[in-house]
Amino acid sequence: MLGSQDALRPKKLLITGASGFLGWHLCSEAQSDWQVFGVTYTHDIKVSGCSMVSVDLRDFASLKQLMQAIQPDAVIHAAAQARPHVCQAQPQATFSINVEASWLLAALCADQNIPLLLISTDLVFDGQHPPYSETDAVSPINRYGEQKVMAEQGMVERYPQTLICRMPLMFGVVPHAPSFMQSLIQKLQAGQPLPLFEDEFRTPVSGFDAARGVLMALGKGKGYIHLGGPDRMSRYEFGQHLVNTLGFPISRLQGCLQADVDCSAPRPADVSLDSSLAFSLGYAPQSVAQALSCLLAVT
Ligand SMILES: NC(=O)c1ccc[n+]([C@@H]2O[C@H](COP(=O)([O-])OP(=O)(O)OC[C@H]3O[C@@H](n4cnc5c(N)ncnc54)[C@H](OP(=O)(O)O)[C@@H]3O)[C@@H](O)[C@H]2O)c1
Repeated sequence: MLGSQDALRPKKLLITGASGFLGWHLCSEAQSDWQVFGVTYTHDIKVSGCSMVSVDLRDFASLKQLMQAIQPDAVIHAAAQARPHVCQAQPQATFSINVEASWLLAALCADQNIPLLLISTDLVFDGQHPPYSETDAVSPINRYGEQKVMAEQGMVERYPQTLICRMPLMFGVVPHAPSFMQSLIQKLQAGQPLPLFEDEFRTPVSGFDAARGVLMALGKGKGYIHLGGPDRMSRYEFGQHLVNTLGFPISRLQGCLQADVDCSAPRPADVSLDSSLAFSLGYAPQSVAQALSCLLAVT
């Protein structure tokens, strides 16, 4: 029988990738309801109310030891090499963090029979038939997308209770883990022109809304859920919202096409997510315009 102290103590949530963009938002949002243990690797960061531990998740012995030491009640696996051009250039090196570590974590969570949530991506789709719902077949066109599909499928094989959250493009301001938005702001502030794709579409969401969506989904069952934002827009349209919010002239933006730029990893045209399942469960992310004005008002 549990003592009264044990019964009152919040449950333990292990969050991998805690030092990353999404992981930092997850730790910040989860710590009011959970006893949070964040896993970092090269960045030694602190988040108020959370305990941090540094582990290379590619080291299977260390990962097993971590799970034994913490005995989490639930796990969110957000750690990854999430830059498509790095996965494209180093498919073997990135396979070990993006795929093998995910598979091992699934086996360890299966042993403990605890909720496990994988953070996946809209880039599991080829961008030809948007918007994508949870029942659409995966069709990745770059190594990163292929690795995420292997992680998803291998985790479900090893632990059918796994919940997969497919995330859209995320934006926000985290000093040690910048999103794409921060480099846009730096260029604007430096007076540089800002070329942005007019023919690449996503359903962007702020890091805070993404984290709230993930925490809402945790424990809601197994399978797949899409956590896209309410707006489908091109990168150029995102830039329009950004310059409007920051008060820069629209002339600083330069529209361009995917074909104009030589990218090492192929880029899908439109991986907009259909997130109606999540919306029906209470996921309510802000529009891009609303989220930008909140984020940039406080930074
Ligand atoms: N950012 C987006 O727009 C986006 C969109 C869709 C899906 N996603 C997915 O969301 C998740 C989080 O993405 P993010 O943008 O937050 O990534 P990020 O900022 O690049 O952070 C990656 C995290 O993974 C950790 N990590 C990398 N290699 C590791 C290793 N060998 N052992 C332990 N930890 C390791 C990093 O730790 P250190 O920094 O301490 O080294 C960091 O905490 C990823 O699964 C990504 O695929 C991201």
